[in-house]
Amino acid sequence: MPNTFTERLDLEAIAEQVGTPFFLYSAQTLRDRIQAVKQITPGGSLQARYAMKACSTRRVLEEVRESGVWIDAVSGNEVLRAHQAGFPLGNRPPAILFTADVFRDNALAVVQETSVLPNVGSPGMIDDLAAAGYQGPIGLRINPGFGHGHVRECDTGGPSSKHGIWHEDAERTRKAAAAAGLPITLLHTHIGSGPQIEEFNRNMSRLVEFFEEMLPAYPDLEAINFGGGIPHPYQPGKTEVDLAPLGELLSSAHASLSARAGKSIRVEIEPGRYFIAPSAVLVTRVHDLKSTAENDKGPGHKFAMVDAGFTDLVRPAMYGSYHHITVHGRSDGDREAVVVAGPLCESGDVFTRDEREFLEPRELTKLRRGDLLVFHDAGAYGVQMSSYYNSLGRAPQVWHDEEGFHLMSRREALEDITSNECFEPLAL
Ligand code: LLP
Repeated sequence: MPNTFTERLDLEAIAEQVGTPFFLYSAQTLRDRIQAVKQITPGGSLQARYAMKACSTRRVLEEVRESGVWIDAVSGNEVLRAHQAGFPLGNRPPAILFTADVFRDNALAVVQETSVLPNVGSPGMIDDLAAAGYQGPIGLRINPGFGHGHVRECDTGGPSSKHGIWHEDAERTRKAAAAAGLPITLLHTHIGSGPQIEEFNRNMSRLVEFFEEMLPAYPDLEAINFGGGIPHPYQPGKTEVDLAPLGELLSSAHASLSARAGKSIRVEIEPGRYFIAPSAVLVTRVHDLKSTAENDKGPGHKFAMVDAGFTDLVRPAMYGSYHHITVHGRSDGDREAVVVAGPLCESGDVFTRDEREFLEPRELTKLRRGDLLVFHDAGAYGVQMSSYYNSLGRAPQVWHDEEGFHLMSRREALEDITSNECFEPLAL
């Protein structure tokens, strides 16, 4: 079910202060999700990480840290942002895991300097680490040959996925790590994001068997990480996922993997979306209503023109993802089907589409100019995937907790967008 925390709040008052569009986060919703995950992975032999790529805003990271959940980071800068939010560096314990398929920018230097655990997603990264003089433990991210996802782009297991080390190359990579003197303390896989929970649980069981077979070849192993991907129900009427079966599966995986290894093997998961998706909404204003009429190219539509675009929330434009939309403060009255579209210079800047990229008008309370619309469940891959297209600054983020409202990031201005521009000679 989409979140409802905004119903009780005065969004107009916030809009007056920070303008529209803006993201609004609910601390309580985030805390509820953290507690749900901690129920099945309380720490110690069953440990959760937060895949911070879903939302890396500092206050969110601090909340996660206070709960004892660890981090999965994908870039050097994510490692540094996690540390700025108070997560310890080093690999004892490995509170920050660096999982990537490529060392880009400062990533290799950050791994070297901070000793966070590098989780190698491509065989050549062993050579990169060795060439840089890295001398610590590593993880291996394996592509087990199967996966799942809410769309094909989010399925990260199987032959069409660029992620991880293909399972038939694991042995060769293990030998390369041994030759480079890098002990493998973690085996990892993340096979996709947001499938149906039944499929997710089935694949998690398959992964347990998969790792049980691999385990004997890895004497230095301390942990196995089963990745993220717990689905979030974005559609109304869909029930919350029950994490109890996953909890049982992870506990029994810990027991069986530990028995096989002859020592305790920590079992980890690293959801991103499940923690943060329902914890934020994107609030936008309706600037205009206009229509097209049917002709030989297709049917006509009524368009609600709002000030949020795919620069703020790209999921509908990129994957045809569903985000529930409500009209703030007006849930009853006549309804009509509208296409909700943004300000960007792209016909695809539309929030009501299906997976085949067709317009999918949405039944909403009859709109008026000036209405505030709430795009629900925008916390995961919302602000984090926002961009500078059309030179619109990124929308501000507001945090709501028992102490009131806080601005967590300002609306970006022209200076923010152009701050890295220069015209310097290159000494070639
Ligand atoms: N671990 C690794 C190594 C990952 O690459 C990801 C997500 C996760 C964990 C967390 O997955 P989650 O629990 O959030 O599904 N932009 C897409 C999702 C891309 C996921 C990328 N990796 C979306 O908006 O649906």
